[in-house]
This record gives sequence, structure tokens and C-alpha cells, in this order.
Amino acid sequence: MPRPYVIIVSASSIDGRIASKTGYSRLSCPFDLKRLHEVRASVDAIMVGANTVIMDNPSLTPRYVKAPKNPIRVVIDGRLRIPLNANVVVNKEAPTVIVTTNKAPRDKVEELIRRGVEVWLMGEDRVDLRGVLERLYEERGVRRVLVEGGGHLNWELIKEGLADEIRLTVTPYVFGAGTSFLEGNGYPTTTEGPRLRLEGVRVCECGNEVVITWRVIHDQGIP
Ligand SMILES: NC(=O)c1ccc[n+]([C@@H]2O[C@H](COP(=O)([O-])OP(=O)(O)OC[C@H]3O[C@@H](n4cnc5c(N)ncnc54)[C@H](OP(=O)(O)O)[C@@H]3O)[C@@H](O)[C@H]2O)c1
Repeated sequence: MPRPYVIIVSASSIDGRIASKTGYSRLSCPFDLKRLHEVRASVDAIMVGANTVIMDNPSLTPRYVKAPKNPIRVVIDGRLRIPLNANVVVNKEAPTVIVTTNKAPRDKVEELIRRGVEVWLMGEDRVDLRGVLERLYEERGVRRVLVEGGGHLNWELIKEGLADEIRLTVTPYVFGAGTSFLEGNGYPTTTEGPRLRLEGVRVCECGNEVVITWRVIHDQGIP
């Protein structure tokens, strides 16, 4: 089954953290934020994990650039923990799909639908991420997805072979602890993880951040 092209975009500290131990995550400079919004404007859907909505309450709309349309917002929330007053629910500038599992409380599913968001039940215990991407492709015509974290969702997508491109902005900060760009069980050595090919490196316009792009080499070649 075809699925969309998936781009993971993150900003990290030099020690690979995308948030501090207290959840602080404002790492990008204004140039990097604008770059992120340019990517938002170029995709059909933006995907985030539940904790990112809970911690950051993003609107997930392209605001610093002109966009042809606002991409669909997709929240992966296995137990339906995001608050009903989250921006992705309240703000109606883009459609929102919340993807959850049979573990979600029924009354909250109904309340979210009443508030105008779509809720997809896609798994018993964990959300079937490949299934979500295939459904977005098939039913919504989604061809490009931007993933904006957090670390757990990034890890699951990479582990499942569902990420095609990684754009990481390394910012001049040190956290020493906190949420890593990838949060999972980990690989024992360098051979188990995905093979990556460096696509580009550029110094940010601010002069103090580096933007690195890798493509994931899939078994059947780079898509
Ligand atoms: N600097 C940056 O670029 C950047 C970008 C985004 C986020 N952040 C930061 O990252 C932090 C959040 O990252 P995080 O790793 O804690 O969380 P996350 O990846 O945003 O969300 C993880 C949660 O999403 C749900 N989830 C993910 N995949 C799932 C699946 N396959 N099936 C079911 N549920 C799934 C799970 O909820 P359940 O446990 O309920 O099942 C999981 O606990 C925040 O502090 C945020 O500020 C930073």
C-alpha cells in the first residue's frame, strides 16, 4: 500500500535534546522557525505525538509564510490524553484528526467529535502508524507529511521504517537531560538502526545554528 513521504523536523540542543528536563523546548531562532513554517506550508499533513500537544499546545498552522492551504493536523494519542481545550481542537483554521486506540475513553471520543475534530480508532493498544499514513494517503490524498515530534513519535516512525527524511537543527544550547530527539528502546550498535545519507548541511542565517538533512535509505532504495 502506498504511503506519504515523511519528513521529521526537529531542533535540538548540542546534546541531542529537543526539550529540557522541565519540558522547555524553545530552541529555534526566528530564522529556523520561519524555515519550519515553510515546511508546514509545503506539506499536506502535520503529525505530532500526544505529549507535544500537552506540553507545547501548538496550533500547527503555517503562520510566518504564505501557505496555499493549511495542512491537516494529525495527533497520535493512544489513550486520548490531550485536553479538550488544546489549540488543535479549539482552533479551526485547519482540520484535525486525532488517532487513538480502543483504550480511549468513549465519552471523550464523542466529546471531541462533537467539538468538530475527527477521531480515528486505529489499534487495540498502540496506534498502527503505517495504517495511519496509508489511510491519509488513500482517503485524504496526503502525499507529504511533516512530523514535529516529540521524541517518542520520532522513534516509533524511525523504528517502523516510516521516516524518509530527517531535518535536524542543532542549536547552541546544552540541556544535559530531558527529551531526546529519539526516545525509545534504542539500538545496541550502529548496524541495527536506519542507514542515512547526508543530503545537506547549512549554517543558519543567524550564524549560530546548523541545519542538517539526511535521507533514510530504505531496503528498496531512497524513495
Ligand atoms: N525541539 C523540538 O523540535 C520539539 C518538537 C516537538 C516536541 N518537542 C518536545 O518534546 C516533548 C514531547 O516529546 P515526547 O517524546 O515526550 O512525546 P511525543 O512523542 O510528543 O508523544 C508521545 C506520546 O504519544 C503517544 N504515541 C506516540 N506514538 C504512539 C503510537 N504508535 N501509539 C499510541 N500512542 C502513541 C503516546 O501516548 P500514550 O503514552 O498515552 O500512549 C506517547 O506517550 C515536549 O517537551 C515537547 O516540547 C520538541
